[in-house]
Amino acid sequence: MNEKNWNRREVVAAGIAAGVLPNIAMTKENTKMISKPIPASGESLPVIGLGTYEVFDVESTPDALQVRREILELLTASGGSLIDTSPMYNRSEKVIGDIIESGAAREPLFLATKVWTDGQETGARQMQRSADLMQTDVIDLMQVHNLRDTAVHMETMREWQEAGKIRYSGLTHYTASAHEALGREMAQFKPDFIQINYSLGEREAEDRLLPMAQDQGVAVLINRPFQAGRLFAAVSGTALPDWAQDFAASWGQFFLKFIISHPAVTCVIPATSKVHHMVDNLATGQGILPDPAMRKRMSDFFASL
Ligand SMILES: NC(=O)c1ccc[n+]([C@@H]2O[C@H](COP(=O)([O-])OP(=O)(O)OC[C@H]3O[C@@H](n4cnc5c(N)ncnc54)[C@H](OP(=O)(O)O)[C@@H]3O)[C@@H](O)[C@H]2O)c1
Repeated sequence: MNEKNWNRREVVAAGIAAGVLPNIAMTKENTKMISKPIPASGESLPVIGLGTYEVFDVESTPDALQVRREILELLTASGGSLIDTSPMYNRSEKVIGDIIESGAAREPLFLATKVWTDGQETGARQMQRSADLMQTDVIDLMQVHNLRDTAVHMETMREWQEAGKIRYSGLTHYTASAHEALGREMAQFKPDFIQINYSLGEREAEDRLLPMAQDQGVAVLINRPFQAGRLFAAVSGTALPDWAQDFAASWGQFFLKFIISHPAVTCVIPATSKVHHMVDNLATGQGILPDPAMRKRMSDFFASL
């Protein structure tokens, strides 16, 4: 496969060719990705990121690396930055490091990973290993994966933030059954970010966690935006409604627009191993966001299926 370095114009052209850009005028102004501020700093974060669970857990062969490098470069060429990984995702951190070593720029990326182990020393060693694998001196966001040994790791993360080795701290989980515990720990440890599950198929976060994060000034990353692909099965054979076409040109964009239009959500991290899906997902970062009435129409429609 040939190397391809994407610029923003080519991403838009690819989106139009693939029929995945919404039905809006693609002027220069609205090709810029929508961003939201990180409350802890005011730094602007583009709303579409990239997840790596399973899809980046591959052998670093030239072909596998090239596809993932293209996906990563599409992200940054579209004005996006955040990539989310974890030591739990086996080879994913190494694949990110291998892509950076092969020449992809580190600077536009916002590298988010996690600590997923017990104990201070083991945790600190794992965090250092993540930095080494990703070929970076500074990790933008370190998160406690699934609330595992939170108190211990938050203390290390604070020290590393002071030392400039981590820029932001976070807590993650992926099931509604953990939302109560996550809320408790968010109040107790005051992380800069939380990462939780939220989608048209899993809306529990609206009850408590999203309003709480907004009140406490905590940035929110959303995982499982497609319920690991299950949302596409739910709409299989159903045409995208006409009324959605001003803001979404595909079901993927419909699902992502619902998420990023929640005022508490900072960035969503859909995972993909396919370049055309990345083009589709990135196009969600442009155009208009549904207002509360439209969000209701979207959820009513989805619930009626
Ligand atoms: N505890 C935690 O911290 C935690 C837990 C879960 C997830 N996460 C994070 O959140 C990320 C996202 O969650 P997830 O990976 O579970 O699931 P997801 O993003 O909801 O779904 C990924 C699936 O959707 C497909 N897909 C992506 N874009 C598509 C498109 N435009 N059209 C059709 N299909 C599309 C992908 O297949 P293709 O490869 O074919 O595109 C993949 O099978 C993870 O990768 C991880 O970084 C964190």
